[in-house]
Amino acid sequence: MTTPFANPLLATPTRAMPRAVAVIGAGTIGPDIGYYLKSALPGLKLYLVDVSQKAVDSALLRFQDYSKKAVAKGKMSEADAAAVTSNLVGTLDYADIAECDWVLEAATENLALKRKIFAQIEAVVRPDALITSNTSSLPAAQIFSALQRPQRATVTHFFAPAWRNPAVEVIRWNKTDPAVIEYLRWVFCMTGKVPLVTADVACFMLDRIFDNWCNESAMLLDRATAAEVDSVAAEFVHAGPFFVLNLARGNPIITETNTLQAEMEGEHYRPASVFRSVDTWVTVPPGKRVPVAEAAAQAVRERLLGILFSQSVDIVDRKIGDSADLDLGCRLALGFKNGPLDLMRDLGEPTSGRALMRLRDERPGMPMPKRAFDAYQGFLRHILVDDIDSVKVITLRRPEALNALHDEMTDEILSVIRRHEKDPKVTGFVLVGYGTRAFCAGADIGRFVDLLGDAPASAKYARDCSRLLVHLDQMQKPVVAALNGMALGGGLELAMRCHGIVALKRAWLQLPEVTLGIVPGIGAMVVPYRRWPHAATTFNAMLRQAERLKASRAHELGVVDGLAEDYSSLIRMAVARVGKLSGKVTPIGDEPVAVAIDVIEAKAANGQVLSRECIDIIEQAIREAAAALTFAAALETGYTAFGQSACTEGAREGITAFKEKRPPDFSRTK
Ligand code: COA
Repeated sequence: MTTPFANPLLATPTRAMPRAVAVIGAGTIGPDIGYYLKSALPGLKLYLVDVSQKAVDSALLRFQDYSKKAVAKGKMSEADAAAVTSNLVGTLDYADIAECDWVLEAATENLALKRKIFAQIEAVVRPDALITSNTSSLPAAQIFSALQRPQRATVTHFFAPAWRNPAVEVIRWNKTDPAVIEYLRWVFCMTGKVPLVTADVACFMLDRIFDNWCNESAMLLDRATAAEVDSVAAEFVHAGPFFVLNLARGNPIITETNTLQAEMEGEHYRPASVFRSVDTWVTVPPGKRVPVAEAAAQAVRERLLGILFSQSVDIVDRKIGDSADLDLGCRLALGFKNGPLDLMRDLGEPTSGRALMRLRDERPGMPMPKRAFDAYQGFLRHILVDDIDSVKVITLRRPEALNALHDEMTDEILSVIRRHEKDPKVTGFVLVGYGTRAFCAGADIGRFVDLLGDAPASAKYARDCSRLLVHLDQMQKPVVAALNGMALGGGLELAMRCHGIVALKRAWLQLPEVTLGIVPGIGAMVVPYRRWPHAATTFNAMLRQAERLKASRAHELGVVDGLAEDYSSLIRMAVARVGKLSGKVTPIGDEPVAVAIDVIEAKAANGQVLSRECIDIIEQAIREAAAALTFAAALETGYTAFGQSACTEGAREGITAFKEKRPPDFSRTK
């Protein structure tokens, strides 16, 4: 069997997109899963099946309600909303779902019931129809063992709210055809989800973290109140365990799932008995904390960290899931501020080790690390690496921020390039974004806040962010950017430094920095004028008015070398381009260039008022960079201009507005 690609979209799908899907169970999560599928694939025929007509009716109403809200927020067009709410069939009769390509079960968490449902499904659907269960805890081996064709079945586990939460666990059960697993990963990724493959163990990967995090919190109630535990936990999660349990009415679930873990793996997993007697916890909402006495806070903190690290090393040691997926999944699905392995690294060995030792002493039996501390840390967190022919395909994966770049990500890309660029078996590299929306939405804006008002620190930041780009300038092996969606700001600056660019037809390029009151400091005011001088007018408008450039126009201008219809042809084109450029990479020239800059109003292409001061900084930097006697000196102009812009009132307003999710008001700034 060939090794599956780390990036699910590199696989050639073995089936078409589903045209008809049935969701069994019209309770809470079933309709939410259905709504996600319909919003991603509006033309889909969706069946909602339940034993209660009332449940079916209210599930159908939920589609109306969600799509109305999406239209009101500008997240969905009227036409899509109409499609989402049509082709929906509510039914009590399994015979109706015979034509479905995929049946997804989301009924009550009860083994006997699920087995009965699967027998009913298998009796009516085609032999090749996919069958998956949304169980959060029951291993596939238990629920599907009686199926006649288990090779088309597995668990696909969603997280609440399933219409928005991108994480989905896909369980690699040993009876499932590997092609089915790869197809499910592809479908999920194509429809905006982030599939995380896990082994077929009780509670899979992420619920082992969540259930034991909650169970441990309940075990700590002899030392602290629920509100105190949530207040301590707030250091690590957006919402404390007891608050989440109230929200999800989760007490009976923890009792069930931890009983399952206790039965399968040992008594140390036994659920706290208090879950059986308490209905609602008295606690604080996210953002509020109660004071906690030092000794209690220390105990709670260490035990929470202890359980988090214990479960994480166990997941890694038993290969239940991949390290990067574990960290990403905890952030996306469970609301952790940082992945547990990142947290271990950041806290360091003494603190992490102390937490684990406390857990070992106070909760004997819980898994402990089997290897040295550092052995859990050597993995790539923000990129995926695949091999196609002799080319390394590097996928930028930060789905929570549209693959926005930060220094850790660029350092990872650089480390992979450095490791392989001297290898004669590697022809070159392709950079692509994870998913279908973005190649990269720019530099991580969250990291700009601390730089505001500090010109030298900002210039240094831009220079540091450029390490990868400067390395690309000096490379002999080709690197090709494959733009699978929007390429914005720093993402576009990265693409500009690649030796070739190919793009999906629907991709677009933009330098939105001016709308944030800052300037794109890592090459955009320099590189285009030296690489594509005939397109200077276009780049003037992109830099000063944030004008969007469609991939098709970029192709006409020669900025983009080729256009592709879909992700897999894009990758094929990029790999071929690497081959064509092999041995022919030419560096960007040192010679000064002439640039004409016209006078414009301080207004963006979309009509937004801009900061005049910011536009002036951009114009001056373009002129100085064009006149610079070396390419390196021209780049320095960009770093300095970024530092200058970070000290303006406009930058403070623009960055603050982005963080506050409101339009900036530059009319009050210069
Ligand atoms: N840095 C950090 N986070 C970013 C980001 C960036 N450059 N671009 C997008 N994100 C985050 C958003 O904050 C959001 O996070 P949240 O879900 O925690 O709120 C998430 O990615 C999804 O983006 P969202 O804005 O909800 O999607 P959208 O479809 O409404 O808008 C964009 C997409 C690209 C138009 C919008 O995100 C945007 O303007 N981003 C900034 C682009 C930019 O200026 N880049 C240059 C930076 S130097």
